[in-house]
Amino acid sequence: MTMPAHATKLAIDRIRFERTLRELAEIGADPRGGLSRLGLSQAENEARAYLSEASRAAGLYPQVDPAGNLLVRRPSADPQRPALLIGSHLDTVVQGGWLDGAYGVVAALEVLAVLSENEIECPREPVAVGFANEEGALVQYPFWGSRALTGTLADGGKACDRTGQPVERYLRAFGSDLNRLAETAWAPGSISGYLELHIEQGTVLERRRIPIGVVEAIVGRAIFEISVLGTAGHAGTTAMCDRQDALAAAACLVLKVESIAAELGLCRTATVGYLDVMPNTTNTIPGTVRLTAEIRDTDGERLRTAETVLRSMAASVAGSRDLSVTVRKAHQSDPVATDPSLRAAVENAALSLGLACLAMPSGAGHDAQIVAMAAPVGMIFVPSKDGMSHVPAEDTEADALIAGANVLLHSVLALQDEPGTFQHGCAQSASKANDRRQQSGYQLTPP
Ligand code: GLV
Ligand code: MN
Ligand code: MN
Repeated sequence: MTMPAHATKLAIDRIRFERTLRELAEIGADPRGGLSRLGLSQAENEARAYLSEASRAAGLYPQVDPAGNLLVRRPSADPQRPALLIGSHLDTVVQGGWLDGAYGVVAALEVLAVLSENEIECPREPVAVGFANEEGALVQYPFWGSRALTGTLADGGKACDRTGQPVERYLRAFGSDLNRLAETAWAPGSISGYLELHIEQGTVLERRRIPIGVVEAIVGRAIFEISVLGTAGHAGTTAMCDRQDALAAAACLVLKVESIAAELGLCRTATVGYLDVMPNTTNTIPGTVRLTAEIRDTDGERLRTAETVLRSMAASVAGSRDLSVTVRKAHQSDPVATDPSLRAAVENAALSLGLACLAMPSGAGHDAQIVAMAAPVGMIFVPSKDGMSHVPAEDTEADALIAGANVLLHSVLALQDEPGTFQHGCAQSASKANDRRQQSGYQLTPP
């Protein structure tokens, strides 16, 4: 279809967008710094309520699905049309930043408001989504909302928080329950594509002074829960040769996990981010340590090799220190490539706004990699100040945030022109993007 001429001039409402983003950042503010708006917590419920109200004020229709995803439609939305989902997640990590997730959700709402106010007809109906619990910081199930929406929430009902409180308790807090979870899944074919706007969370764009990243692939990730079982004992009377110190063994394992990526180069990153020491007392030898290890890469085969090495390292620490180390894989998400036509639409939109862009991988996980199991996906990145994220210092220049939101808007408009399904219909966007690149002299260079 051909867009009306005024569509090329559309822009998001900067004042409304910035106000909504700032007000959202007050929900879950942590007195220690940053935001702790943990997935499925009361603060995430408040964020949904706040954005529902903001959507209504902009003339849009919000709904919350049984998994806690916020879905917002235009009043004119035709349910028969395939949806073009746009959005990100509502939750944060503990003491996280104000933009990770929130930026993409508020920008999606703003895009919807602009399309609605300008009565733009969209064969691919844009639907904004704020996914619940992407981080898994409270209820230990990352990508909770996107898995529920795509019908891939295996054993979701068994999820619980670190104290063993079941997920059902959290669902009831917003009027849902386990029996209704299955209703969250969308019918196959009902999503024509998903576009997620996000801060980069790294330094690539900032260092190169490029305002827009076009994500080519998103890393896969495996998370392991590791238990080191030694023997607790008196720190003054137990001879060094008689000890089974679980923390000393865990420390050894922490460095070995780091070496999988840092020295052996078997995967992009390898991190131990959580450690629970028992009894955690100055004058008692630690008897038990629980830790998590996560590994990431854009290549599934490399991830599998890294996992094999991690398991053999755990066995070797257990053997050399004569204690027990068990490794359980808690979560696995596969690496995914973004769709060529969505990438071309983003590139095209950026170049039409005079913004240079760079094709790049994402080292962070995103709901897009889960939605990719059901539909073609694309992602847009904007620079992060000093590459900081998952910390209170997370930030992005105001103009860069606006630029990204306008790229999202014009990508959505460009995708309305795209014939057929995206995977097979990429020729039009791709050739337009080529033309524009030649006209503008911008290069799409790999990092
Ligand atoms: C998600 O935020 C991740 O940890 O990559
Ligand atoms: Mn995050
Ligand atoms: Mn995120």
